[in-house]
Amino acid sequence: MKATIVGAGNVGSSCAEYIAIKNIASDVVLLDIKDGLAEGKALDLSQTSTTLGFNSRITGVTNNYAATSQSDVIVITSGIPRKPGMTREELIGINAGIVESVTTNILKYSPEAVIVVVSNPMDTMTYLAIKSTGINENKIIGMGGALDSSRFKTYISKELGKPSSDIDAMVIGGHGDTTMIPLTRLATYNGIPISSFLSDKTLDKISAETMVGGATLTKLLGTSAWYAPGASVSYLVDSILNDQKKIIPCSVMLNGEYGLNDICIGVPVIIGKSGVEEIIEINLTDIEKEKLHQSADSVKQMNSSLKNLFN
Ligand code: NAI
Ligand code: 2OP
Repeated sequence: MKATIVGAGNVGSSCAEYIAIKNIASDVVLLDIKDGLAEGKALDLSQTSTTLGFNSRITGVTNNYAATSQSDVIVITSGIPRKPGMTREELIGINAGIVESVTTNILKYSPEAVIVVVSNPMDTMTYLAIKSTGINENKIIGMGGALDSSRFKTYISKELGKPSSDIDAMVIGGHGDTTMIPLTRLATYNGIPISSFLSDKTLDKISAETMVGGATLTKLLGTSAWYAPGASVSYLVDSILNDQKKIIPCSVMLNGEYGLNDICIGVPVIIGKSGVEEIIEINLTDIEKEKLHQSADSVKQMNSSLKNLFN
């Protein structure tokens, strides 16, 4: 199995590292436009294989798309990240041009690949990747909900003082500070609703912390985070390449599901070897439905700025 990561920056190299260390793909290709960066990261990473005990072959290339040929999965992390005080949405102008050209290039060499979009604003970039290439909607998946859910679960585990591996929880909606929806009602500690252990006030605090989870890290790091984003991408890639059929909240094209059309936004999805295998429509309360529709309005507004950029 071959996985290509376009963009060998912080998130791209972190995700390549997890994919290799966990032997998720036998071949990992890193591609970047910065001369030598991907080659250097690939060489450095491959020299960890003997001590860490993995066998994935890691190759780095500068803008050479021929090396990505016949990839099973392609991850797009190319683009600029957030700086402190910047929203994901402010990245749109630069990243839209990058995502459009990268998607066109990768499809020339891997027309059957499943594509995972990470570059921000991710929901809009996922929509753009579909609209600009016209490829099968099931093969383009935006990664945001997996990361937001991992932050949500971590905050829950801290409040409970219980192991994060016992926590199950999901964030749906847009991958934005004001658009994501942590579903506290459905979060559980080993199958038991967390509302049995935590007060409404604490649940609200956890939701608020989750929603600004990315911004909190950007403030601390001076750029956006990479360990949890890289790990979340690798989790998604594992479910695709090993046909695990995990339920992961992902940004996918909706055609009537949840009453939404012509939009990519985070909802629970079964992910397997063909990409999006099923969109799961869970029963939401009226308030949750309203939040999802408000979130969709914001994402659609962002999508509308693509028209100004490309017309
Ligand atoms: P970074 O700046 O460390 O890496 C980006 C890399 O992309 C750079 O090495 C750059 O040379 C490369 N690049 C730029 N244009 C390119 C092109 N046309 N072809 C190939 N490579 C190109 O940034 P970082 O931190 O890795 O973030 C990458 C993107 O991922 C950002 O847009 C960031 O906002 C987003 N992100 C999304 C997350 C999500 O959950 N969806 C989580 C974290 C970051
Ligand atoms: C994050 O959530 C900025 O999308 C990036 O860390």
